[in-house]
Amino acid sequence: MTTSLKPAVEASAVRHFLDLADISGSDLRLILTCAAKLKSERQQGRNQPLLAGKKLAMIFEKNSTRTRVSFEVAITELGGQSLPFNSNELQLGRGETIADTARVLSRYIDAIMLRCHGHDKLVELAANASVPVINGLTEYSHPCQIMADVLTFEEHVGPIAGKTIAWIGDGNNVAQSWIMASSLFNCKLRLACPPTLNPLPEVLAWAKARGGDVEVMTSPEDAVRGADAVITDTWVSMGDAHAETQMKLLAPYQVNSALMKLAASSAIFLHCLPAHRGEEVTEDVIDGPQSKVFDEAENRLHVQKAILLWCLRGI
Ligand code: CP
Ligand code: NVA
Repeated sequence: MTTSLKPAVEASAVRHFLDLADISGSDLRLILTCAAKLKSERQQGRNQPLLAGKKLAMIFEKNSTRTRVSFEVAITELGGQSLPFNSNELQLGRGETIADTARVLSRYIDAIMLRCHGHDKLVELAANASVPVINGLTEYSHPCQIMADVLTFEEHVGPIAGKTIAWIGDGNNVAQSWIMASSLFNCKLRLACPPTLNPLPEVLAWAKARGGDVEVMTSPEDAVRGADAVITDTWVSMGDAHAETQMKLLAPYQVNSALMKLAASSAIFLHCLPAHRGEEVTEDVIDGPQSKVFDEAENRLHVQKAILLWCLRGI
């Protein structure tokens, strides 16, 4: 797995969206402000065709509902077009290199979104593409998701700076993007994970070196106490090889109503979805009044539009 937090691709005129760590806090804020504006415009009618004629290729090595549909709708509503592919239907699935795929697609397409297993593949695609590349999830990170999470948090709770976010469960790709977000948005992040499922130390070190207030612990109760948001994710991510072991390790990390009671009374519950009711979260929590998971899923659409505009027009 590529774990370096140095910019994955040397600075170039092309704006890739590979990881939050590569982007300044002020640019991330611009994206969120733009997403909120686009959301309001859409609610009042429709968005302007700011990406008329632009084409987005989307390549999936793994399943997707939200990422695929929100990006397709996003580019379409901005006047552009999407070309979605399962990686196996491209020559990529028969061994054509990532580098050649990047060079060829760059001749036809204005931006490429990739969802893949190894993060190194995403980095290689970006290094060889002359158009923006967007991270649609790797085993290492899921930055588009966290942008939608922050937008949702701010809609329901208020400015995220100084607030406390509790992450409960696997220190996975979504958790690692939250760690990057915490120092860029200046919020406190408490992660409760079984020690063998902790996030990568270099991601934690990167955030701490930038003044991030991030703490990893084993107790879900300690992480949640007084928190403004409680977040979890599936116990077994796509591509995880040790599903049974993880399920056992994570059994004490279920988000249920007893745990939610320890958070601030105004706390919200977030989950990137898909969810497994009765595993990482109980039905009463995910379908209860504190849960904002469907606003969070909707916000993927508004944020994808803003990310596309940032990549293709500088906003
Ligand atoms: N949250 C998320 O990325 O969902 P999909 O896997 O459905 O795209
Ligand atoms: N951690 C999950 C997120 C799915 C959107 C996975 O990688 O499968």
